[in-house]
Amino acid sequence: MYRYDQYDHLIVRERIAQYRDQVRRRLSGELHEDEFRPLRLQNGLYMQRHAYMLRVAVPYGLLSSAQVRMFAHIARKYDRGYGHFTTRQNIQYNWIQLEDTPEILSDLASVEMHAIQTSGNCIRNVTSDEYAGVAPDEIIDPRPFCEILRQWSTFHPEFAYLPRKFKIAVNGAKSDRAATFVHDIGLWALQNEAGETGFKVIVGGGMGRTPIIGSVLNEFLPWQHVLTYIEAIMRVYNQYGRRDNIYKARIKILLKALGVEEFRRQVEEEWADLKDGPATLTQAEVQRVAGYFTPPAYETLPDYSTELGALAQQEKAFGAWLKRNVKGHKQSGYAAVVLSLKKTGVPPGDATAEQLDWIADLAERFSFGQVRATHEQNVVLADVAQKDLYKVWKEARSHGVATPNIGLLTDIICCPGGDYCALANAKSIPIAAAIAERFDDLDFQFDIGDIELNISGCINACGHHHIGHIGILGVDKDGSEWYQVSIGGAQGNQAAIGKIIGPSFSAAQMPEVMDRILQVYVRERQEDERFIDTAQRVGVAPFKEFVYATPIAAGHYIPGEDGHA
Ligand code: HEM
Ligand code: SF4
Repeated sequence: MYRYDQYDHLIVRERIAQYRDQVRRRLSGELHEDEFRPLRLQNGLYMQRHAYMLRVAVPYGLLSSAQVRMFAHIARKYDRGYGHFTTRQNIQYNWIQLEDTPEILSDLASVEMHAIQTSGNCIRNVTSDEYAGVAPDEIIDPRPFCEILRQWSTFHPEFAYLPRKFKIAVNGAKSDRAATFVHDIGLWALQNEAGETGFKVIVGGGMGRTPIIGSVLNEFLPWQHVLTYIEAIMRVYNQYGRRDNIYKARIKILLKALGVEEFRRQVEEEWADLKDGPATLTQAEVQRVAGYFTPPAYETLPDYSTELGALAQQEKAFGAWLKRNVKGHKQSGYAAVVLSLKKTGVPPGDATAEQLDWIADLAERFSFGQVRATHEQNVVLADVAQKDLYKVWKEARSHGVATPNIGLLTDIICCPGGDYCALANAKSIPIAAAIAERFDDLDFQFDIGDIELNISGCINACGHHHIGHIGILGVDKDGSEWYQVSIGGAQGNQAAIGKIIGPSFSAAQMPEVMDRILQVYVRERQEDERFIDTAQRVGVAPFKEFVYATPIAAGHYIPGEDGHA
């Protein structure tokens, strides 16, 4: 677990004092909203449709029980009793009063948290793999590098006013679980033939208005050079990234304009001045930081899978949960457990204060007091003894977080959309709810198997719709809400941007649209082929043909009409 040092404590406290005075001046009318806006955004406070929203930074998704308990306290005292986990491994509160925000930040600081770098054109909170440190396929633990990046980027004066926000993700395993191909910079650990550790450096990926899969800028960057090389990239971007047009300001646009070769040449030129300089990482420094992430005091436990198998036989629901929500672990006798925040009827990613308190307790009792947030909007207990799994399941069930749907159809990623977000073109939570209700039958979901459904309420893509196996995007058509569907997107090693299948649909048509898409999959799949493999093999044509073959009732869709999207 990362820990604040004296500098972290000092800068966070000083920032709160400064912000407290800014809020006071805003409330007394000394500051106009136009003056206050950039100040609040620097502290993670947005204005949404109905109220302020506070986005709290969770560095690479890692949380202690005390921090989770503080989330519960904030939800209860200052919000409407719940918080919302997001695709950036953060938590957001949707019903915040301005006058409470200094107190909330002060409460957060008491457990070493803040909301700095969750907004603005700076290097945002770094994200990573929720199974970091425990995944059986791990090459290196990415967390020390995330932490080094966190310390380096916090208030970095040179990178405080970039052309646009900047997102870095670090993955340490063979499987990419940090979506490195759709970040401004993705670092993906690997080992070369000589057994040395380095990173593949992927630059210029992203979703939003111009979705792009990142380009590999460096196939193998030795770990010592992580900071100097990233600094070189940032300098090129800071200098040449477009500041005249917000829609063209991300690094992906610069990279596209220059071409990878020229961009690389410029980075190398910049790097020549920085390489082997004072920011070069040493073994001692990485080890010092790695000291924050030493493994917990694991017991020497035998593998318990035979006993678990017997229990799963007796209780089918437990078996289903084991299969979907329990993941492998490096350490014999242990497992990682995903607590599903995707119960039908609850907005994806929402957790109540009661659940948060209980998750904190559970983590203390069964997982060394740590919790991780996932970019799929669930939470993970990473170090559960296999012998405790049955107990954990029973309790998780009684708290509504044991739905055995991880990676299945109802494990939907969904942004807040029109219910909260002022930028939305359409609602997204009710679409997720309608689809979850229609396909609530678990046996059906097990039959369909692994599938990722991602929903965004506008092209900004906070719900990652571009990389969903099925993506749904809210679009505005003559003032009403419509939905465009894409197929074949993927995160991870085979990252891809989905292809739009055709004209958009009304909200009421969406469950039926999903049904038709799934029918095509069932018809086309070969043996155990996953949805994404079928979709990538057959392309969008069969889906398009069947979905639009006959009009869909309960909506306003007219065949042949062009939904403008
Ligand atoms: C007040 C609410 C929010 C506002 C105003 C907002 C604003 C935006 C904007 C303007 C973009 C597009 C930036 C760009 O690519 O140029 C964006 C992208 C994004 N936001 Fe949000 N957002 C909000 C809530 C959320 C939530 C709830 C999540 C997570 C569930 C989230 C995660 C993301 C992600 C992952 C992207 C993708 C950016 C990329 O890959 O290029 N945001 N957001
Ligand atoms: S995708 Fe659009 S609607 Fe959804 S949270 Fe982001 S900005 Fe808001």
